[in-house]
Amino acid sequence: MSYQILGVNPGHNGSVALVRDGELIYYTEEERLSGVKYDGNPFRGIMEVINTYGQIDEIVTCGTHDLPKMPWNGEDAYTTLVRKYFPKVKTTALGHEHHLMHAATAFYNSGFEKAVVVVVDGAGSFKKEKIDDSGNEIEGFEAESIWICEYPAKFVMVYKAYGQNIGVRVVTPQFDFDNAVNITKAYEAVSHYLGFGFIEAGKTMGLSSYGKHSDDIPNLFIGNRGSKDLFVPHYPAGSFIDVNRFPQFIQKQDPRAWHRDPSKLSDIEKNLAWQIQHDSQQKVAGLIDQAMKMSGINQVAMAGGYGLNCVANYYYKKVLPNIELYNEPISHDGGTAIGAAKFVWHTNNQDTTIRPQTSIYYGKQYPNEELQRVLDDNSDKITLSLMTPKKIAKLIADKNIVAIFQGGAEAGPRALGNRSILYDPRDPGGKDMVNLVKGREWFRPFAGTVLEECADDWFDMAGGTSPWMMYAVNVVVDKVKLIPAVTHVDETCRVQTVNKEQNKHYYGLISEFNKLTGVPVIFNTSFNLAGRPLVETLQDALDTLYASKMRYIWLPELKMLITKTIEDPSVCSGQCETCEDCHGTV
Ligand SMILES: [Fe+2]
Repeated sequence: MSYQILGVNPGHNGSVALVRDGELIYYTEEERLSGVKYDGNPFRGIMEVINTYGQIDEIVTCGTHDLPKMPWNGEDAYTTLVRKYFPKVKTTALGHEHHLMHAATAFYNSGFEKAVVVVVDGAGSFKKEKIDDSGNEIEGFEAESIWICEYPAKFVMVYKAYGQNIGVRVVTPQFDFDNAVNITKAYEAVSHYLGFGFIEAGKTMGLSSYGKHSDDIPNLFIGNRGSKDLFVPHYPAGSFIDVNRFPQFIQKQDPRAWHRDPSKLSDIEKNLAWQIQHDSQQKVAGLIDQAMKMSGINQVAMAGGYGLNCVANYYYKKVLPNIELYNEPISHDGGTAIGAAKFVWHTNNQDTTIRPQTSIYYGKQYPNEELQRVLDDNSDKITLSLMTPKKIAKLIADKNIVAIFQGGAEAGPRALGNRSILYDPRDPGGKDMVNLVKGREWFRPFAGTVLEECADDWFDMAGGTSPWMMYAVNVVVDKVKLIPAVTHVDETCRVQTVNKEQNKHYYGLISEFNKLTGVPVIFNTSFNLAGRPLVETLQDALDTLYASKMRYIWLPELKMLITKTIEDPSVCSGQCETCEDCHGTV
């Protein structure tokens, strides 16, 4: 009889993970099921597990704090729901151990036997720590930490930096409590200044490639901490630039103006984005170096929200060539549901089995009969045709956007060929065209997927592969002109390498595209429209088709191409001035 542990992470990346006898078998983020971006309360995820996987022996809640209790039964809402179906379910609450859960996710997925994990995020659990032998304590939000990790479940924290809104800075060999800003808070402040959400760091990262060093930008950091003069921190959420003290940052226009129109972007904005990217990745590289020195271990795993910064991830590989680096693809808060469930499994069973990440497609597999039923329900808006991968490759090479829908959805924020929109990377106008169709800002780059065996010919991979799209790498100089639609302004590309074992159909399609064009790379962006979560079901996928100017979805498992027969809607492109739908805030 197998033992199933449900990890539940409430928070801005609300998620659930189901671990069966130590093996991750299901993961989803609530936004995929509810359609509400950043949905924090994973009730639908729990119901999906109950309905599909039938048994929950233990529930582990995580997040960033222990959860409030419901009246009458004294248990949190998620446990209360699960207990309705499984009265004897065991419970563990780990919300007060946010960074430990990040570390556990990265360590258990890394495949390392022993590792040092570096966690970098905005604000984790609010914790009190003893700072001396007299019992003096200080409290703050977890910000950065270093963990030495061993099987079955030994996690020794050797360094932790905290952030707090008020108080006096206290530094010991093991702790750094600071009322200024931690690394991610500085990044958040810049993202907010640029008109993005606090957790839309990816947009700042995309813009950074347009900027350069400028003397108009003051020091963003003093030592390893964000400048207290420049940044006004707010924990747990938020962080701002003090424009009163730094008048060069007084904005003369709404940032949404340059989000829509490149000609309105000024130097201060792009150079600030460049500087925060440059400085923050340098600080994190310093932390990695510190982690290696403190632990004597060069197998390093990265976790926490900053771990998704694929420009920084590539930078570490370049400046720290002696490390064996694992970048956890589900390193944002959602992934802690996995770490929590695995941590409890390994602790309970003293299990020392190493289970490296070999797949990312942890969403629900929809049976072919169910897909067929959805197609039947939509038969008045689509036609179906049998199609070989070769013909799909031709369709893409003829400059058609084709979405792909297959298998379980990708865990984490990257679309990796099961819920992706595909296009021809050779088209010089491809980036602008797809940005317009998706309603994204003009400065955001698109990713490319390359056949693994061809990766080194097209990209400087720094001696590795990138199956989970965790690195923005340099495009080989003489290839830049061949794949303009996926080459960013600084001649980098956020790249996914794929082999047959990782994704048979996707690999097969790119192989056909390569035979046809001589280019083993395909343009890959997430199957959604701006501001919406990645599509989960086939009906979601069709609704996205109807709501956009896309015409095709390929279903490789059914060998079928869907063609939309209804007219394109006059949908908001996300570039409009006054639209009620997007308010120009794509
Ligand atoms: Fe976090």
